[in-house]
Amino acid sequence: MLCFAVVLAGMLGGWWLRLQTPSTTPVSFSAPFVFGRFIIPQDNPLTVESIALGRRLFYDPKLSGNNQVSCATCHKQHLAFTDGLPHSIGVSGNPLPFNSMSLANLLWGPQLLFWNGRASSLEEQALQPIEHVDEMAQDLSLLLEELASDAVYHKMFAEAYGNVSLDAIAKALANFQRTLVSANSKYDQYLRGELNLSELEEQGRRLFMAHPDTKVSLRGGNCIDCHSQFLTGGFNTAFDGFNNNGLDDDATLAAGLAEVTGLDAHKGMFKTPTLRNIAVTAPYMHDGRFNTLEEVLAHYNGGIKRSSTLSPLILEADNVAQHQEDKISLNLTKQEERAIIAFLHTLTDKEFLTDERFSNPFTAKKDAP
Ligand code: HEC
Ligand code: HEC
Repeated sequence: MLCFAVVLAGMLGGWWLRLQTPSTTPVSFSAPFVFGRFIIPQDNPLTVESIALGRRLFYDPKLSGNNQVSCATCHKQHLAFTDGLPHSIGVSGNPLPFNSMSLANLLWGPQLLFWNGRASSLEEQALQPIEHVDEMAQDLSLLLEELASDAVYHKMFAEAYGNVSLDAIAKALANFQRTLVSANSKYDQYLRGELNLSELEEQGRRLFMAHPDTKVSLRGGNCIDCHSQFLTGGFNTAFDGFNNNGLDDDATLAAGLAEVTGLDAHKGMFKTPTLRNIAVTAPYMHDGRFNTLEEVLAHYNGGIKRSSTLSPLILEADNVAQHQEDKISLNLTKQEERAIIAFLHTLTDKEFLTDERFSNPFTAKKDAP
């Protein structure tokens, strides 16, 4: 264990990334190596100028049709870039069909975006909420005119990409979001060997990581079976990050991934989200149906609904010697549920939630003279 911690601490030391285009300033930032490979498209290098532009666009209500809704309306930093609502509300006032998703470590992947995986890159994703009638309801050609006639934007676009264009808007928003790296939760510090978890958190960590095996008396919550990239939420290319975690029966099963692939076998499957900062991103699930982590645990521990596409990993994990055909439950004790919740709380990264670099540039404190 000691060796493991030392090796990890060494890997986490971070390595410096340098990317350059002729007229822009390359950005240097460290990204934890332990999260695996990350992807930055060749045609959109991370530059100081593009990130500054993306940050301003992200927080600017000008991007919406009524100039009142920005990306940050539904992605608030102190809530790990969610909005605290079961269903987000944009320009139209009509609740969206989905719960806002937290934004962190989107650099790692490849990952498909949205609950149903309908966007395959941050660049592809960025213009969708701007145009959507219920989200920002903005006419894109009007937006281009508006931004081009604004002196600050004119200069910032010129410096970052040359011209004001839809391509540049998408690229800048993508780049700002790529910098939203969260790597300093209590659990990250534990991985780096900087501290120990409490007894309860450690018990929760073990349960989270284990698929139960009664033959060797191993109790488990089987969370890692699906939340394998729980620090980043990445790696969803071949739909293997999409699962049906038993929220509904066949009669009420939502389309989920099937809306994108057209395959019945994908009905009820949704993106397995990152669990980083999960303690601050309530309510939970694609439709915000659970208000607390206690409700989430009660779901996994006895509330699972059977359906044709329910994950077999959930069906067979029951922590009892005699498999129960008629009942789906992890059969965890209340104390074990509490331990898993305590572990989930170690994934909160307070530094990320308050990092000035990710904050609203329109209201940010100016540097001291
Ligand atoms: C009205 C609220 C609202 C606004 C405004 C909004 N979003 Fe979102 N965002 C959501 C919701 C809800 C989801 C999940 C939607 C879905 O799955 O269909 C989401 C999902 C995302 C995702 C996918 C994350 C993942 O892990 O798959 C990204 C990235 C994102 N939004 C970025 C943005 C950007 C950039 C903007 C501004 C251009 C923006 N959002 C504006 C509510 C909003
Ligand atoms: C079969 C795969 C699978 C297993 C096993 C699993 N999950 Fe999930 N989990 C998912 C999927 C998929 C979602 C998103 C479902 C949706 O919204 O439709 C999810 C959502 C969640 C959410 C809500 C995330 C959010 O942003 O709203 C939490 C919290 C969570 N899971 C915790 C756990 C814990 C703790 C365990 C172990 C006790 C666990 N999960 C086991 C697949 C799984």
